[in-house]
Amino acid sequence: MRSQSIQDRSAEAMPPERRHLLDVAGYDWSALRTILDAAATIQRAIATPGWRGDELAGRRIATLFYEASTRTRLSFEIAARALGADVVSLDVATSSIGKGESLVDTVRTLRALGVDVVVLRHERSGAPWIVARAFEGSVVNAGDGWHAHPTQALLDLFVLTQRIGATDGSLHGRRIAIVGDLLHSRVARSDLHALIAAGAEVRLSGPENLVEGFDQFTAALSREAKRRDGHAAGSARLVTTLDEALEGVDAAMALRIQRERLDGGEIASLEEYRRHWGLTEERLAAHAAPSAIVMHPGPMNEGIEIDANVADGPRSVVLEQVAAGVAVRAAVLAQAVRGELPPVGGGA
Ligand code: CP
Repeated sequence: MRSQSIQDRSAEAMPPERRHLLDVAGYDWSALRTILDAAATIQRAIATPGWRGDELAGRRIATLFYEASTRTRLSFEIAARALGADVVSLDVATSSIGKGESLVDTVRTLRALGVDVVVLRHERSGAPWIVARAFEGSVVNAGDGWHAHPTQALLDLFVLTQRIGATDGSLHGRRIAIVGDLLHSRVARSDLHALIAAGAEVRLSGPENLVEGFDQFTAALSREAKRRDGHAAGSARLVTTLDEALEGVDAAMALRIQRERLDGGEIASLEEYRRHWGLTEERLAAHAAPSAIVMHPGPMNEGIEIDANVADGPRSVVLEQVAAGVAVRAAVLAQAVRGELPPVGGGA
């Protein structure tokens, strides 16, 4: 068994920015590609009958979810086990967190129990950064507040590059719509960073009070991408209607109406929301490219932001997104433990 001091020395020797995945903001296309390429290798290996990885053998991964999750938590746990890790999952509801234990004390406790990686979901934006300062192993952000969901962005990018990628593998020139409740969506924010870095032209749309601030945000991101990536840069803009957002797109992503984060009054009614913002086959057929794919990060409110026949129809890659989560998260865990995550701003 490894001693605590050996663990600490090996983790401390790694620069924090190479051992934590907190955000995809600041990653350029080559950094993103480093993770996607590793995920593609793992995806091929996982598809081989009887394959079992050992890259994380002897490592202990803890999932620490202060908010509900199905896909993210299970895919991290499946990914970690596929690479040979020992996985522990803290049930926040029945843990000492209920007795008032702080987040920092909880992760220090996990470290004392030999945990190498904490996969954290938290309702407070910024919580993973606090943990990263207190925890000497690796921290992977599995979604913080409305702020960021980096591994969702990576898996969305993975599916998009496989499905509609340009010849160089990027999303250069590809048109992608993200529609719905942008305001409360950490997925939308992280996807925007990743898709623009991959060269995509992103169109955003949603009810006026659920897109607040996104016109300035998209303009700032587009300017920053242009400065960083020149002619290879993608862009994003906010448009007024769903039809405008869908015009000619190669991919359309519906966002979940986050009823648990709405405090009333944001939308008139769910029927009204579907009428204006729901992804229906009629709308897609009328506006999107004939071969356009449909995405949703899940969980879905079928019949509200996306019709059931679209979610389950031939355009849908929703379950491909879920499956991709395993390979992408395995790649992230392996790179985090090795201290080889791409640094923000290049120089890998
Ligand atoms: N997309 C996503 O984060 O799903 P879960 O909340 O089920 O993890």
